[in-house]
Amino acid sequence: MQLRKKDILDIESLTVDEINLILDTAEGMKEISERPIKKVPTLRGKTIILFFHEPSTRTKVSFDIAAKRLSADCISISASSSSMVKGETLIDTARNLEAMNPDIIVMRHSSGGAPNLMARHVKASVINGGDGMHAHPTQALLDLMSAREKLGDLGGKRIAIIGDIAHSRVARSNAVGFSKMGAHVVFSGPPTMIPKGVETYGADVTYDMDEAIRGADIIMMLRIQKERQENFLFSTVREYSRYYGLSEKRVNMAKKDVLIMHPGPMNRGVEISEAVADGPYSIILEQVTNGVALRMALFYLLAGGSRDGDTH
Ligand code: CP
Repeated sequence: MQLRKKDILDIESLTVDEINLILDTAEGMKEISERPIKKVPTLRGKTIILFFHEPSTRTKVSFDIAAKRLSADCISISASSSSMVKGETLIDTARNLEAMNPDIIVMRHSSGGAPNLMARHVKASVINGGDGMHAHPTQALLDLMSAREKLGDLGGKRIAIIGDIAHSRVARSNAVGFSKMGAHVVFSGPPTMIPKGVETYGADVTYDMDEAIRGADIIMMLRIQKERQENFLFSTVREYSRYYGLSEKRVNMAKKDVLIMHPGPMNRGVEISEAVADGPYSIILEQVTNGVALRMALFYLLAGGSRDGDTH
């Protein structure tokens, strides 16, 4: 089976079959990263541009590693190193990148919709690496992969997503993704951090964190995004942590062997305690490991590969 799509811009536009195809392909890619020589020639001759207009550690590095493990030529540009600082528009930038005939462009931008605009102006495939408060599809896909790896079929599983829902592209993409896979998504956070209409993402809402995590199979904690808040939406960090921080005591309210997830970067001691972040239920670093395989799978599939194809 092949992924018949030009771009990966959000989770909404992926079918359940396409999500399963991506996750199955990613599972097959994991083994390459465990070899002594972590490189296959699958994408030799392909050109991938990483165009990051916002800071990133996990997403940028894992896309870069994924491209190199598949032997693609990978070029990175950042906000400060692109001619957009001299006033070039995004559309002109897109046209100039297109003129160099890349195969795939990965884009992170502070404005929601920027990767969609890019995708309309280039023949290359565009992957959204996170745009404003809109979407982070590759994070949601790697989260689905990590959850599926541990729990199997996600149908009927309860996932509590806790924190700053209003500013979180990760929350939005994950709510849509987990709902599509049949899971029951519950959002919780302070009323000031939960925008009206979030139910349209397929999630229930409660302002009581304990209610959200009671019986949960997965607890996904979100970072307080100070950089996206015009006004502080909670009174003090200590108060936030008391009502919406994940402590060991709270973990015990969830199901036995609950999975603790966080997309990173974490504010230790704010939304998650040190003990929980580094504790036995945390799969936070496994999410990061899976991110490389997931992004290898996307590059491979967008370049025309099929699930049953030979990746060497
Ligand atoms: N999860 C995530 O998007 O992390 P980075 O901002 O470090 O890429």
